[in-house]
Amino acid sequence: MTHFLSSQSPIGIFDSGVGGTTVLRKLTQMLPNERILYLGDTARLPYGDKTPAQILQYSTAILNWMASQGVKMVLMACNTSSALAYPHLVSSKPSFDFPVLDIIRPFAESLSADKKTMGVFATAGTVKSDMHKKIIQAHNPDIEVLAVSCPEWVPIIENGHIEQTDTLFHVKKYVEPILEQGADALVYGCTHYPLLEKILREAIPEYLSHIELIDPADHIVNKAIQYLTEHDLLNHDSMRSGYTRFYVTGESQPFAHNMQKLWGYTPEVAHVDLPVTQMGILS
Ligand code: DGL
Repeated sequence: MTHFLSSQSPIGIFDSGVGGTTVLRKLTQMLPNERILYLGDTARLPYGDKTPAQILQYSTAILNWMASQGVKMVLMACNTSSALAYPHLVSSKPSFDFPVLDIIRPFAESLSADKKTMGVFATAGTVKSDMHKKIIQAHNPDIEVLAVSCPEWVPIIENGHIEQTDTLFHVKKYVEPILEQGADALVYGCTHYPLLEKILREAIPEYLSHIELIDPADHIVNKAIQYLTEHDLLNHDSMRSGYTRFYVTGESQPFAHNMQKLWGYTPEVAHVDLPVTQMGILS
C-alpha cells in the first residue's frame, strides 16, 4: 500500500496493552500538536509469553492497520515486538512506506562506555531473544548485560494491582539480585515497567544514589523527533492542537478504567478487530 506522507498525518504507536502509554506520555509532551493513534493489542496480551512467530504476526497485522489509517510513522512502544518482530519487518520486501522505529536500538546507540554492568528487566520472550545484549554490545562491547524476566510485572500493571502490598515483594525479588551482581544502571526493557518506578525506588533505597534508571522511551521519542524534523514531517499547526485516539483489540472498558488509575483520565477507547486469521506476513 503506497500513501503520501504528510506532516498532517497521524503518528501511530502500539503495545500489547497500557505499557506503551509510558512512551506516549513523553511523545505528547514533546510534540503537543501531533495527531496520535495509540493501539493496545489487548486481545493478545501479554506478548511476553508468545512465540517469535506470533509476535511477528501480531506486529505485522498492527502495522497493516496503521498503514490503512494513513500514518506518517509508527513507534513500536513494545520491547517484545522490537526484539522479536522488528528485525524481520525491516528486512521484509516489500516493506512499509512509512518509517517504523523500534524501542531498543535508539537507546543502545545512545549509551556511553562509562556504564559497566547493565541490568535489563524485560519479558520472557525479550530475554530469551538476547536482543538487548546483542544490540548494546554491538555499539559498546565493554558493557556487560544482565537481563532478567519479571513475569508477574505486566499482569500486576494490566490488572490494576500496583498498589497491592505484595507488589513490593515481586519487584524486590528481581531487582536486588541484579544489583548484588554489580549493575550500575537499570534499564526498563519493557514499556510497562516504568509504571512500577515508585515501588522500584521503595525496594532499593540504599542503591538509588549510585545507580542510573534508564527509560528507553526518551530515546525512541528523540529519534522520532529527529526523523520528522529532517524529513519536514512535523505538524506545524497551531500549538497544542494535537490529540490521541485510543484503540484496543480487546474490550474498551477495562483499558479506559486502567488509564484512569494510571494517568488520572478516562479516554474514549474504540475497539478494533485484528483477528489472527486475517493476519499474514507481508507478501
Ligand atoms: N510492554 C511490552 C514490552 O515492552 C509487552 C509486555 C507484554 O505484553 O508482555 O515488551
